[in-house]
Amino acid sequence: MRWLIPAAGLALAGCNIPSEFLQRMESQAKYEYYETSEFWADGRAMRTPPEGTVPRERPVGNPGLTTGRVNGTLVSSIPLELNHEVLALGQKKYNIVCSQCHGRLGDGNSVVAENMALRLPPSLLQLSDKPDGHFFVAVTEGYGVMPSFAGELNIQERWAVVAYVRALQQARNSQAGGQPLPQENR
Ligand code: HEC
Repeated sequence: MRWLIPAAGLALAGCNIPSEFLQRMESQAKYEYYETSEFWADGRAMRTPPEGTVPRERPVGNPGLTTGRVNGTLVSSIPLELNHEVLALGQKKYNIVCSQCHGRLGDGNSVVAENMALRLPPSLLQLSDKPDGHFFVAVTEGYGVMPSFAGELNIQERWAVVAYVRALQQARNSQAGGQPLPQENR
């Protein structure tokens, strides 16, 4: 601690005041990028990281979150904390990226669907028995003739869209007051 206070003072002063503390770091023995080294047989100071080394930035340990699958099995529930913000994000992204084909309500009624000849975008409301991972994987990898949307939506946005699709399913498939919703509202 005794070191830190004068050092911080010098750093704040922002000029080249010689300081034994700072100079020692500057002049310590160390290799620079691409420098040669006599220590290693190949003469290179930069070493290849051991096999299996993973960059710190890469998300690890949560394949369910990043791929929608754990050991090949679709994850059953969204691996994110769900709150109002996530749902609002999902709604926004769904309306931008998915609704023109699957419809604002997820029921497959859309202008694009009306004019599509090849294969119609299915209603997403009938897929409530599918695990959450199914939707994430469909959006991430593409599904049949539907392309991947991984370029449009990052991982968090994709899960947020899944959460919103679930909300659409619940809203449309739920029973009001114990009665099924009238047909025209479904
Ligand atoms: C360009 C139109 C289009 C867009 C945009 C689109 N989809 Fe699709 N989607 C389709 C079509 C068509 C299929 C059926 C593909 C097939 O069966 O070959 C499909 C299939 C799916 C399926 C699989 C359905 C099943 O039977 O299991 C899911 C889930 C899905 N889409 C979700 C989404 C979500 C979420 C988005 C937005 C991120 C989205 N789609 C955007 C056209 C689209």
